[in-house]
Amino acid sequence: MPFAHKHLLGIEGLKEHEITQTLDLADTYASSNRTSQKKKNILEGKTQINLFYENSTRTRMSFEIAGKRLGADVTNMTSSGSSIKKGETLLDTALTLNAMHPDILVVRHGSAGAVQLLSQKMNCPVLNAGDGQHEHPTQALLDALTIRRRKGRITRLTVAICGDVLHSRVARSNIHLLGIMGARIRLIAPPTLLPSGVDKMGCEIFHDMHEGLKGCDVVMMLRLQTERMNVGYFPSISEYFTLYGLDYDKLSMAKEDAMIMHPGPMNRGVEIDAAVADDIEKSAIQEQVEMGVAVRMACLDLLTQADRGDES
Ligand code: CP
Repeated sequence: MPFAHKHLLGIEGLKEHEITQTLDLADTYASSNRTSQKKKNILEGKTQINLFYENSTRTRMSFEIAGKRLGADVTNMTSSGSSIKKGETLLDTALTLNAMHPDILVVRHGSAGAVQLLSQKMNCPVLNAGDGQHEHPTQALLDALTIRRRKGRITRLTVAICGDVLHSRVARSNIHLLGIMGARIRLIAPPTLLPSGVDKMGCEIFHDMHEGLKGCDVVMMLRLQTERMNVGYFPSISEYFTLYGLDYDKLSMAKEDAMIMHPGPMNRGVEIDAAVADDIEKSAIQEQVEMGVAVRMACLDLLTQADRGDES
């Protein structure tokens, strides 16, 4: 079935079958990525631009690797070292890049809505690699693929999303995706780190980790985004870790086979204990990174199918 969207700007608005279609395709790429036959040619002759206004390791590298594995010519542009530093606006940058006829544009930007605005000026598909506190759709998709591969399903799992929900586009995209896929979502955070109105998104709210983690299948930790905080949201880092940092004591409340996730980059000893993060029995953090390449290959594939005249 053809993918019904020109751009991927968020998870909100996607249908269950579209998420399943993306995960199914990503699963095939995850398998081929583990072989020596990683390289495909479906994007041969296509130009992919990765435009990053914010720092990134995982997302930027995996989009570059994903594009190259599919045969695209991949160009990376960051705000430092470009004419953005001379004051060129987002829209002028979009018009400039559009004039170079890219076939796909991947964008990360610090402002919510910036990627959508930019997509209106581009002739090619635009992929949101994270916009402000709004959405990070490929992160939610790679999280979903990691969960599905470990647990065999997403529906009816109890997933706890813990920590700095307020500033997290990862949380927002995951809340949309897990809701669409029929998971039970719990948010565990201090009241100051929860956005207003989040109770209307179909989540159970907890302020106590021991209570909130009881019987969970998946424990998804969030990075404390101190760079987005201009006031004190909690008394101190050590108090935050005592109350909300994932350690073995708090983890013991979750199911015996609960899996631990973190989108990265991690603040060890702040939101997660180093030993828990590195626990190869329970932690899926490295698998999340691996699935990031597969999911981004699937997204690049799906969004360029119409242009390639391939809707199989
Ligand atoms: N998870 C994530 O978006 O990581 P990066 O900021 O390193 O891309």
